[in-house]
Amino acid sequence: MEGTLLKEKKGIIFGALNEKSIAWQVALKSWQQGAQLVLTNSPVAVRMGSINELAEITGSKVITADATSMEDIDTLLTESMKIFGGQFDFILHSIGMSPNVRKDIPYEQTSYENMLKTFDISALSFHRILQTAYKLDAIREWGSVVALSYVAAQRTLSGYNDMGDAKALLESIARSFGYIYGRDRKVRINTISQSPTLTTAGSGIHGFESLIDFSERMSPLGNATAEECADYCVALFSDLTRKVTMQNLYHDGGFSSMGMSLKAIEQYRKSFDECDCDDK
Ligand SMILES: NC(=O)c1ccc[n+]([C@@H]2O[C@H](COP(=O)([O-])OP(=O)(O)OC[C@H]3O[C@@H](n4cnc5c(N)ncnc54)[C@H](O)[C@@H]3O)[C@@H](O)[C@H]2O)c1
Repeated sequence: MEGTLLKEKKGIIFGALNEKSIAWQVALKSWQQGAQLVLTNSPVAVRMGSINELAEITGSKVITADATSMEDIDTLLTESMKIFGGQFDFILHSIGMSPNVRKDIPYEQTSYENMLKTFDISALSFHRILQTAYKLDAIREWGSVVALSYVAAQRTLSGYNDMGDAKALLESIARSFGYIYGRDRKVRINTISQSPTLTTAGSGIHGFESLIDFSERMSPLGNATAEECADYCVALFSDLTRKVTMQNLYHDGGFSSMGMSLKAIEQYRKSFDECDCDDK
């Protein structure tokens, strides 16, 4: 759908690895609504992924930056301001990685070295980006910053491991910096808590396909897709949401307000009937 919601707006999109990435869809939809973009990802992701294809489609520049490096973030923002000709309007933080999840190390046996990396990449990177943007006064008044989160910040989901803790920290940073950035520069900061989505990062979670199926059965509107998440991001970048800030906004088809659904009961009943278990 093409439109003018983001006409004359400029923004940086972190985290488009390939077509499945949520950030990929956000970049496409923002561009279709008139935005000018800078795309960024880590050196390995730029080498191995397909971000350059997205850059070609959207006519964007790609700047490589490791989100755990203060120097890279500073260079990225400074270079982006040169490309944009000054301040810009929005940022998407779509970055997540846990070495514990990757190496299948369970939460109760965590490697703290890995855990610190999880927090650094998936949460502290958000603070780093905001702090740098604030220092450079990079974001225009009434600008908007969005980071992607997951309901594991509030509720325990088996297999989500230390990413649940990272998301809780990410959402807290959105509130803490949201106060300061709103007060001083009228910039809004929010997190979107998205349904489980089949992407490279998502697929790394233990039992992810079952999680998607469970969440689909539990959500009255069904799971939200990456494209639908991108629509919500565009709305938050636009001038239609200027007084929304410091919020964690659920975009999950209603999942986070459910206890038990008929579809889940039916599935549970089916497995129970077919089960050859003693406690039936
Ligand atoms: N897929 C899901 O089910 C789901 C649900 C809710 C929230 N999210 C969140 O959405 C965001 C995007 O994930 P996705 O599902 O699109 O998967 P994805 O794998 O496409 O995106 C994750 C991105 O993080 C980037 N990244 C990792 N380490 C980095 C570093 N050091 N510096 C810069 N970038 C780095 C990767 O290169 C990749 O582009 C993540 O924050 C994720 O936790 C995903």
